[in-house]
Amino acid sequence: MFTTELATVSYIGATILFILSLGGLSNQETALRGNLYGMIGMALAVLATVFGPQVTWAGIPWIVVAMLIGGSIGLYAARTVQMTQMPELVALMHSMVGLAAMLVGLSTFIDPEASKGFVGAAKSIHEMEIYIGILIGAVTFSGSIVAFGKLSGRIGGNPLLLPGRHWLNLAGLLVVIYFGGAFMNAHTIADGIMPLAVMTVIALLFGIHMVMAIGGADMPVVVSMLNSYSGWAAAATGFMLSNDLLIVTGALVGSSGAILSYIMCKAMARSFISVIAGGFGTASAAPKPAGDAAQPAGEVTPISATETAELLREAKSVVIVPGYGMAVAQAQHTVYEITKFLRDKGVNIRFGIHPVAGRMPGHMNVLLAEAKVPYDIVFEMDELNDDFPKTDVVMVIGANDIVNPGAQDDPSSPIAGMPVLEVWKAKTSIVMKRSMASGYAGVDNPLFYKENNRMLFGDAKKMLDEVLVVLKS
Ligand code: TAP
Repeated sequence: MFTTELATVSYIGATILFILSLGGLSNQETALRGNLYGMIGMALAVLATVFGPQVTWAGIPWIVVAMLIGGSIGLYAARTVQMTQMPELVALMHSMVGLAAMLVGLSTFIDPEASKGFVGAAKSIHEMEIYIGILIGAVTFSGSIVAFGKLSGRIGGNPLLLPGRHWLNLAGLLVVIYFGGAFMNAHTIADGIMPLAVMTVIALLFGIHMVMAIGGADMPVVVSMLNSYSGWAAAATGFMLSNDLLIVTGALVGSSGAILSYIMCKAMARSFISVIAGGFGTASAAPKPAGDAAQPAGEVTPISATETAELLREAKSVVIVPGYGMAVAQAQHTVYEITKFLRDKGVNIRFGIHPVAGRMPGHMNVLLAEAKVPYDIVFEMDELNDDFPKTDVVMVIGANDIVNPGAQDDPSSPIAGMPVLEVWKAKTSIVMKRSMASGYAGVDNPLFYKENNRMLFGDAKKMLDEVLVVLKS
């Protein structure tokens, strides 16, 4: 068993490891180490909690059984999930944090033992923690479930715009504040349950409404925002359970999620303030369902795998821009083979990564790291955008929205203002995709019709395999 002192020291150790973990995860080269720090920190945190002073021996078998069930489900999900389903899995996990905060709040409230010893101001603070904890948990839970539905395509990408929706949200907030007063003034558990239930229902509806009102093109920001909310929900749980480590860890997740949301907003030219207020990006973002055939706006010039290989062979400088389609096709290993081949021939080959490429932050970096593409040739959009005029060939592999010049030229576009990789400035761009279908934002892409652009139609993995065979022949 951990004594109180040992548990405190372990918590401090775990906190330091979590901070080191976050630091490590900010850079690809140190990410593996960052993960390791996180795992050791979490193991220490779990051990110090389960065998700590707050848990009795009688409680341990229950915890072990719960951990076995949860751990098995987690292991199964991690082993079976496809790389393309990761964003949905992350959204589902955020919803679990919200659900946990709600359940902990409810059980803390109805368990007379948990409230023992709280009198006067301490009692009021304890009740406020419960009320706010359940509120944040409920918004996170229902919002994440809707995000899961949208990311997995079970719910359409179109924003739901209820008439007077801002007034509805405001009315909901006022009711929540009113019932908060009733909850704090309740003398018995039975009296407090009704206001708590009303607030929970409103918070659940608010979570649904908030995410339903967001257009498909703005979903990246929602993913990182719910990440942040899940952190605050965990911190709220920490307050309810008087667990310092959970408060600190939740705050770390909440604030890093908020920073990520800010980065996402910048990458998509959205206002951070309107994002955290919820229900943003709806005026201009009215995307068609992803994958819809866009209206042809000109002639495209197709190219074959053989011609692509010849262009690559003659090029001195090549940039590869991967997108969601590379993840779908699982083409990253062939991309690596082609990269290795061209590098050995002395070609200056680099990767351009857009912050919202794919379906989750860092999606492309993870795939490229998995395929062992060297980190020093992977660049962020801003680092590469000025180099396109000096580039011979750009290969756009399963990317669409992130290379759409309409974001700069068409103010009515749902992605207007979003910074994009300016691939059309290269000598030749080659777009690899299966059809003329639009990307996630559901908009046509004028890049396809440019004179210096070629379309290599087909599954990215299949086409790249063909290119590699020709290159090597
Ligand atoms: P998209 O604009 O979604 O375009 C992907 C393209 O890949 C599609 O046009 C599709 O065309 C093609 N594709 C699909 N499967 C393929 C395959 N097997 N082989 C070859 N091509 C294939 O992707 P993007 O350029 O990466 O941009 C990301 C978009 O997702 C942005 O709009 C962003 O806002 C949004 N989003 C991002 C995130 C995060 S956090 N990154 C989260 C949610 C949403 P075909 O069907 O014709 O093949």
